[in-house]
Amino acid sequence: MSSSAEKGEGGPFRLIVLASGNGSNLQAIIDDLHGRDGIEVVGVGSDKPDAFALERAQSAGIPTEVFPIEDHPNRSARDDAMADWTKGLEADLIVLAGYMALLTPGFIERFRNRVINVHPSLLPSFPGLDAIGQAIDAGVRVTGVTVHFVDEGTDTGPVILQRPVEVAPGMGRDELEEAIHAVEHALLPEAIGMIATGRVRIADEDPNRVIIDQ
Ligand code: GRF
Repeated sequence: MSSSAEKGEGGPFRLIVLASGNGSNLQAIIDDLHGRDGIEVVGVGSDKPDAFALERAQSAGIPTEVFPIEDHPNRSARDDAMADWTKGLEADLIVLAGYMALLTPGFIERFRNRVINVHPSLLPSFPGLDAIGQAIDAGVRVTGVTVHFVDEGTDTGPVILQRPVEVAPGMGRDELEEAIHAVEHALLPEAIGMIATGRVRIADEDPNRVIIDQ
């Protein structure tokens, strides 16, 4: 089974990015991929009206949309609205780049194997919130970055790419965070580029395993 996200004949590969905060990963996607090699960011969505990511998108001329939970009766209704918006933009791939709300199973089902996330640890270590703090508290020597497909669990979907980051002796939180962000900003565009060119698929014999064609 190939991931259904791959560049179709002729048209561009259409990305939606969802972000709740600063949007430095969105910026890396804009700088490295947007408008190049047939890849377009066609929309940036957020659950937070004041997310700086929205300003980054607007500066790049990318349409934005906000889906605050307060505007909807519940999470499921919010995610239905977001899924309709995504569908309307004919997105090939949805990238969670610091999107801090959990997606409902209904959203994931509509875009199975077409939603990816970047997480600041080597999953399955340190899933959930504050993965960098968790790594520091655990005293590990190595942590890193994971890009994975999103399923119904918290940071549990099939792993696409991982890259380690060394926790050097005496390294403070800020320094480690900076090192992890630098790796994220390379790894996430790399993973998207591989998906866009059809090199990433889920193994037929094991839905938890991703195969990358060279
Ligand atoms: C990143 O560390 C990402 O791994 C995590 O949230 C953070 C978002 O940072 N999911 P930014 O908003 O892209 O700057």
